[in-house]
Amino acid sequence: MSEITLDHKSMVNAPVGVFDSGLGGLTVAREIMRLLPAEDIVYFGDTARVPYGSKSKDTILYFSRQIVRFLKTKNVKAIVVACNTASALALPTLREEIDIPIIGVVEPGAHAAAKATKTGHVGVIGTQATVSSGIYAKVIGEIDETISVIGKACPLFVPMVEEGLADHPMMMQMIDYYLSSIKESNVDALVLGCTHYPLLRGRIHEYLGDAITLVNPAYETAMGLKGLLGKHGLLRPEKSAGETQKNQAAANLYVSDLPERFKEFANSILPVDIERVKTVNIEQF
Ligand code: DGL
Repeated sequence: MSEITLDHKSMVNAPVGVFDSGLGGLTVAREIMRLLPAEDIVYFGDTARVPYGSKSKDTILYFSRQIVRFLKTKNVKAIVVACNTASALALPTLREEIDIPIIGVVEPGAHAAAKATKTGHVGVIGTQATVSSGIYAKVIGEIDETISVIGKACPLFVPMVEEGLADHPMMMQMIDYYLSSIKESNVDALVLGCTHYPLLRGRIHEYLGDAITLVNPAYETAMGLKGLLGKHGLLRPEKSAGETQKNQAAANLYVSDLPERFKEFANSILPVDIERVKTVNIEQF
């Protein structure tokens, strides 16, 4: 990352930018809101161009750069790449280019997995792009080279969640289709390496049972953000309970398409009321 040249005093009260290809990143925003209730959030979901998981690295980087430029117009003090695919393929480049702190979900998720495994065998599920990138195996290997990692792409999980079919009976069949090899393997920790998958956590746990710990990088990412903001003197002081709720209501959500549908979903999972989701023409950035 290039040198940070922020005016710390004025930046402490600035919002944190969070982005994802769509609604899955709200699972990360939710953890940030819970852990850091004093922080304002500007969230962007690229609902017009989701999914990223089946796109090339160049395209994912192009989209991610546009979103970073948009978030910077909101004067964010830090950015959370709340998308495994963008974290895997765009974050290393974004980190070189940006002048504010930035964090993705892969490194926190890899640390959580390395901590969770007792047998030294970890599974990772994610989009085709994330699994093919081999990023989790690389980062987990850097933490502990004795840990073995197997990856499995589950491309149909995202559209099932997007369609609101997470609890449909078909979902169990799909989980069996993708995860039977994981169930039969010797892994004892499975990274939910796509921000939509925590929304399937209950169903996946029902299928795999207690022997495999499910690792959701979202919480670790919120912890990582806390550490990063603290390191740069950018943590906003906690307020009283009354003010906190008021403060959290400052979560501003933007999408590139279908704001009403997004608002409905956001209100079903976030700990704050979202009154409005605005549409942005992201191609302008
Ligand atoms: N949010 C993406 C991720 O975490 C999944 C959806 C997509 O393919 O864009 O990888």
